[in-house]
Amino acid sequence: MVKVLLVGEAAREHAIAEALCRSRLDPKLYAVMRLNNPGIASLCKVTGGEVTLGNSQDPKTVVETAKKYRVDFVFVGPEEPLFRGVSDELEKEGIPCIGAKRSSAELEMSKAFMRRLMWKYRIPGRLRFKAFKNVEDAVAYIHEYAESVALKPARQAGGKGVKVIADLQAYLSQEKAHVKEEHTKAIHEKYMKDYTDIEDRILIEERVEGPEYTLQTFTDGRTVKPLPLVQDNKNAFEMDIGPETGGMGSIAGKGMFLPFITRDEFEKSVEIVRRCVRAVEKETGEKYKGIVSGQMMCTAAWGPTIIEFYSRLGDPEAVNVLPILKTDLIEVCEAIIDERLNKVKLEFEDVATVVKCVAPKGYPEERNLAKGHPIHVDVKAIERRGCKVYFASTDLKPDGKIVSGGSRLVEIFGKGKTIPEAGEKVEACIPYVWLEDGWGVFHRSDIGSKQLLEKRIEQANLIRAVYRYRAKKGLIGKTIEWIPKRGKIVLET
Ligand code: GLY
Repeated sequence: MVKVLLVGEAAREHAIAEALCRSRLDPKLYAVMRLNNPGIASLCKVTGGEVTLGNSQDPKTVVETAKKYRVDFVFVGPEEPLFRGVSDELEKEGIPCIGAKRSSAELEMSKAFMRRLMWKYRIPGRLRFKAFKNVEDAVAYIHEYAESVALKPARQAGGKGVKVIADLQAYLSQEKAHVKEEHTKAIHEKYMKDYTDIEDRILIEERVEGPEYTLQTFTDGRTVKPLPLVQDNKNAFEMDIGPETGGMGSIAGKGMFLPFITRDEFEKSVEIVRRCVRAVEKETGEKYKGIVSGQMMCTAAWGPTIIEFYSRLGDPEAVNVLPILKTDLIEVCEAIIDERLNKVKLEFEDVATVVKCVAPKGYPEERNLAKGHPIHVDVKAIERRGCKVYFASTDLKPDGKIVSGGSRLVEIFGKGKTIPEAGEKVEACIPYVWLEDGWGVFHRSDIGSKQLLEKRIEQANLIRAVYRYRAKKGLIGKTIEWIPKRGKIVLET
């Protein structure tokens, strides 16, 4: 029997829990959660484990729970406990952890650390950037230099606060400088105000465009094993409009690639992640052990390019790949702990997958409105249609009612021979989720559709043509910009 403590309460953790419980090693699942995720709670119960409701981000709570149940190892789902050193604290007690140490998780927590690392080790897929410790310097820089930019909180702030501004029309430069200044101040005052664990406050990066995708990997510090590529869809509404969310749904093709990412781009992406894992060890003296995911974009500057790193699986991206993982996840975890991941073959069902999130109205901007609604999910009807439900921000109360927590409610997973086939299956399940008090829910009907897929393929083909042309001209790793009053300049990236 193997006792595992799972940390976290979202749909990603429900998918991790389910994959752990499929193990042939007779798992007993324990969980530390802030909200009582009904899916995880049920898996704890059927395996003879228990749920601890408490602060899953707090290392002390996690260590005490792990010691109480004498678990064999801990699996940390989200990033915040890693940023707070949960893996380091567990190690002091001799408890293995699937989750990066504090110093390795810096790769996700500090975007400036990540960019500096990529430049120092000259890793392909890096972008030009400037990090600022105060808002005045950032604003001065914007007025002096910045053209087309991505403005970001310098810390991982739950995916919030990123604004991309394409300053291509010289006659609007003044107006756009004003927008950039306002957003830079908002990053400082709104998105970074709760974080005291990092010196850099604002990151200004060169703007790039292209199709985005997530490369999730397991690593024991020596070997990096990729999972199938997934594309998340961040905007709240159809055809990529509306505010950015944590992700409204995701797609994965058959095999390891997406239909708009080539084998060569996939291999280059894996190599970038491998080089970053080695660079983290050189920088910190610690092996990167656990999960590392590249949130990537295929750009004209580099081809595969890092937008950010995750020290965890993505959510919803994990829900595409874990249900089709054929390899025993507990055996994978043991191989990570013992540093013999090279001996493990990761195998997946050969299917395309689609995940759609159902969210309460109010999400993502007015979460208080989205909170506290009783939810109904007809799990059996969804399963009859060949799909699966993963509970997200939901709280199972002692009276058996499930109440919304303010973020995405559930993620519905479907598989098929093609992405559109899987997408249609999931779409047919959406009516089985509703809020009993009549409060509205929404989802994106376009995720997994033929139309959105064709849009992604077209975008990738255009970018790839430019990227290949630039490669022929020796321009990879260089950006050409035209800056008013300075003219055309070629910048190294
Ligand atoms: N899907 C985005 C994230 O996991 O942060």
